[in-house]
Amino acid sequence: MAKQEDLFKNVISHAKEYGYIFASSEIYDGISAVYDYGQNGAELKNNIKEYWWRSMTQLHQNIVGIDAAILMHPTTWKASGHVDAFNDPLIDNKDSKKRYRADVLVEDHAEKLLQKAEKEIAKAKKRFGDDFDEEMYKETNPRVKRYLGERKEILERLAKSLTEENLADVKALIEELEIADPETGSKNWTEVRQFNLMFGTKLGASAESAQQLYLRPETAQGIFVNFLNVQKTGRMKIPFGIAQIGKAFRNEIVARQFIFRMREFEQMEMQFFVRPGQELEWYEKWKETRLNWHRSLGLGEENYRFHDHEKLAHYANAAADIEFDFPFGFKELEGIHSRTDFDLKAHEEHSGKKLRFYDPEMKENYVPYVIETSIGLDRMFLAVLSASLKDEQLEDGSSRIVLKLPAVLAPTKAAILPLVKKDGLPEMAQKIVDDLKWDFRVQYDEKDAIGRRYRRQDAAGTPLCITVDHDSLEDESVTVRFRDSMEQKRVHINELAGLIKKETDFRTWMEGYVD
Ligand code: GAP
Repeated sequence: MAKQEDLFKNVISHAKEYGYIFASSEIYDGISAVYDYGQNGAELKNNIKEYWWRSMTQLHQNIVGIDAAILMHPTTWKASGHVDAFNDPLIDNKDSKKRYRADVLVEDHAEKLLQKAEKEIAKAKKRFGDDFDEEMYKETNPRVKRYLGERKEILERLAKSLTEENLADVKALIEELEIADPETGSKNWTEVRQFNLMFGTKLGASAESAQQLYLRPETAQGIFVNFLNVQKTGRMKIPFGIAQIGKAFRNEIVARQFIFRMREFEQMEMQFFVRPGQELEWYEKWKETRLNWHRSLGLGEENYRFHDHEKLAHYANAAADIEFDFPFGFKELEGIHSRTDFDLKAHEEHSGKKLRFYDPEMKENYVPYVIETSIGLDRMFLAVLSASLKDEQLEDGSSRIVLKLPAVLAPTKAAILPLVKKDGLPEMAQKIVDDLKWDFRVQYDEKDAIGRRYRRQDAAGTPLCITVDHDSLEDESVTVRFRDSMEQKRVHINELAGLIKKETDFRTWMEGYVD
């Protein structure tokens, strides 16, 4: 655990040191749960966006992208259920005065039971080797059975209490499980209360006539209200999808864990409209497609797992999260929801406008059902950053800090380094930069000894270093050093563009992962 906490601290300080993430308005001591992306962070973020956007709108002929406004007509949020039901159950600790999400306290307790069971299973696996039957062990080992049984019971009871809005029972559960304030150990809790997460704002000049608006808490509604516009102008036929990337705002009360839970963040969402009755088939398909997208980045198969929801949101008939093993454990990275026809129907009712599709094959007008895939861009950023940061011990006994970002996402694709600052090497290196910069983000660096420059680029996440030396002047070849293997090879300068493309191209990374 201590090691994990260290890793998280290292990720946060590395993100700052290398220009990835700064606290917002830091010179005024920052603002809680709001962050700014620095020169490398902005590039990495744009690259993640592009990787998602291209996989959605370029690899699928039936998905198009839009960019809707953050401010929407206030009735949108009444129709979507956010005015009445976008709440978090909160609980305060009377001694420490700290505020927590009651459901998260219970879920964390349940997660510990799962971890205990997994530890037992791992031990047994080691003991029995190839003969080990994990399913049988789970069903027969009394300790593992108890841990998993207790966990299931707790999560089911939590889901039931939340669905029934029985907040007294959520409090009772916290007391029965003897859950203590994670920071102080106190068990002196208040009642559990609901708190609406939407940020309000005003439209208009005078206080009397101003209209109450909200900063959107999700980008999805901008897609739903534009369903017919896109369907008609794009002549889209069911099934089809609309994708969007944009800011969302939530007044998160318990906002810790760096960019995992922010008040201003970005979502990458896609709503896929299907025939009623076919939604669960598409739901399964999208679960697989999205997991494959994650796999393509090579952050480690073991870092992902699905978590099927016990408590379904008011609009869903099936829902699962793709969870990622962040430095603080497995947590939600992306949600995949079968949202039924809830949103379009609700907007029909509140707007009085029909939001239907005439299906020529069925000769029928219907409100389509929707599968949603929704991923937090900032959470994806944190997943990429934390899985990539490595403190490596090298064979010669030294160590290096290296940010093994997937090359397709790396802010700088190659650093061009003259071995020394004289003899015409800087000029040749600069010429290489001037040629490559049209296709790739490359960086010229001449300061410090070559070894230090390699280490600096390793830590910043640059996948390739290109060194120009005295031989380069004679034979027009340069040394290419690969960040991850530290291997070096001699390459003619005419081959550089092809090599960088092969290492960092969207196609190289994604091609084996599409169905
Ligand atoms: N339209 C569905 C929706 O918004 P959600 O589970 O509330 O569903 C989707 O959010 C994704 O947005 C989450 O899986 C997470 O990655 C991201 N997200 C949600 N709240 C966030 C926050 N406060 N900070 C950063 N990312 C957040």
